[in-house]
Amino acid sequence: MNTPKSFDVIVIGGGPGGYVAAIRAAQLGAKTLLIEKDQLGGTCVNRGCIPTKAMLADAKLYDRAKNSSVLKMEGLRVDMKQLLARKNQVVKRMTTGVQFLIRNNEITYTQGKAQFIDRTTIEVEGEKGREPFKGQRIIIATGSVSAQIPNVDVDGKVILTSTEMLELSSIPKELVIIGGGVIGMEFACLFNSLGSKVTIIEMLPEIVSTEDGEIIRGLTTLLKKKKIEIYTETKVKEARVKKNHAEVAVVDKNGKEALFKAEKALMAVGRSPYAGGLGLEKINVAFNGKFVKVNEKMETNVPGIYAIGDVTGRQMLAHKASAEGIVAAENISGRETRVDYSRIPNCIYTFPEVASIGLNEKQAKEKGLQVTIGRYPFQSNGRALAMGESEGFVKVIAEKDLGQVVGVHIIGDHATDLIGGPVLSVGLETTAEEMGRTVQAHPTLMEAVAEASLDAIKEAIHLPKK
Ligand code: NAI
Repeated sequence: MNTPKSFDVIVIGGGPGGYVAAIRAAQLGAKTLLIEKDQLGGTCVNRGCIPTKAMLADAKLYDRAKNSSVLKMEGLRVDMKQLLARKNQVVKRMTTGVQFLIRNNEITYTQGKAQFIDRTTIEVEGEKGREPFKGQRIIIATGSVSAQIPNVDVDGKVILTSTEMLELSSIPKELVIIGGGVIGMEFACLFNSLGSKVTIIEMLPEIVSTEDGEIIRGLTTLLKKKKIEIYTETKVKEARVKKNHAEVAVVDKNGKEALFKAEKALMAVGRSPYAGGLGLEKINVAFNGKFVKVNEKMETNVPGIYAIGDVTGRQMLAHKASAEGIVAAENISGRETRVDYSRIPNCIYTFPEVASIGLNEKQAKEKGLQVTIGRYPFQSNGRALAMGESEGFVKVIAEKDLGQVVGVHIIGDHATDLIGGPVLSVGLETTAEEMGRTVQAHPTLMEAVAEASLDAIKEAIHLPKK
């Protein structure tokens, strides 16, 4: 074996957890090595957040043009080849950007599959063979893969995961989606807009069940209006690939069975942590169920070994992984920082979008909080009306006595950008009055957030008096 090169910090996995951890470690002066077996940017940049948003942007454009009473476009159609090419271009631009940042921060990068030899030695199997590296501290940031359920034949051609959905070169006539979670909803809107007949099968009583109840009801109504079929309290028992189609067998809560046939089916029942082949058993890393167990500093039970992102569970979100990456790198350098998990926003890129921060109404009540609630519909917002995107509303939940904002929930166009304001409010512990009295530019969608805050204290200007 060659004498291994030595690093202060080795990061395994180049997704939004790992590459951010590597940059932060390098900023703090650590000699850092980043290892990635595939492409820098991980699931988020290559197979998740970014490509889906590029495709959704084109689908939305098509949807608006198709349904516009103003644009008269004969023979309007989607060129899937171009749509995929633009999506690939966006991904390429992002991965190139990450590569630049890694070089710019003087991080050593190596491509290959890592495994632990012992607590401080990692072997990387790359194109040029195997190479060992020594690390004083090692951060595991290996992410997650699509979860599977028994009796569903995912062949990647007829029954697909989100990864293969991003490469579909034609629009399926029918699409059955197994799982009414975040991935299911985003692909439902994408392919519904492109012209597929979409059916969603969800085993729980509601789709996107962690969101606020009113928001879920609002989203369900709007999706049904678009002719997306939603079956809740219905479980997929079996899904088989037939000659040219998928057959999905379901059973509802009353035991009634049904069979759905579709050109394609999407399997979107969650994601499982990925630590396969890392050799964590050799160094006795402890697990919490399927997830690597970590403390608040992102340390595992093994001294010097940290883990961040999807492989550790909780919310499987890119921005949560990045926040954990920063905390791991900072704790390694001696700074004592923590992630506040109660202040992580959720965004769903449906049509219209959904975004939230903090507690929903049910959670606030379960915590025994006395709350006051403000709402404001986008139908009463000038900018939303002018944009022709006036579906949805803002809901602000504030603690009754002191008025502190404890949760904000938005369904509507640009909700995922609008939530940035409330993220600051919840983070800075402002009151509904403070958030409502900020002077927002007119006409903007943010005025709806301010008005919903004022409604929580019964002072909204553009609402009928109560
Ligand atoms: P998810 O956990 O959000 O939803 C999966 C759904 O499938 C659940 O509602 C579950 O009840 C249902 N299900 C499970 N087994 C079933 C069965 N046999 N029959 C019918 N329904 C069944 O997982 P999803 O949508 O796959 O997303 C994976 C992860 O990726 C999530 O943690 C999500 O937060 C993240 N993600 C985040 C995005 C964002 O922030 N915009 C976008 C896409 C994914």
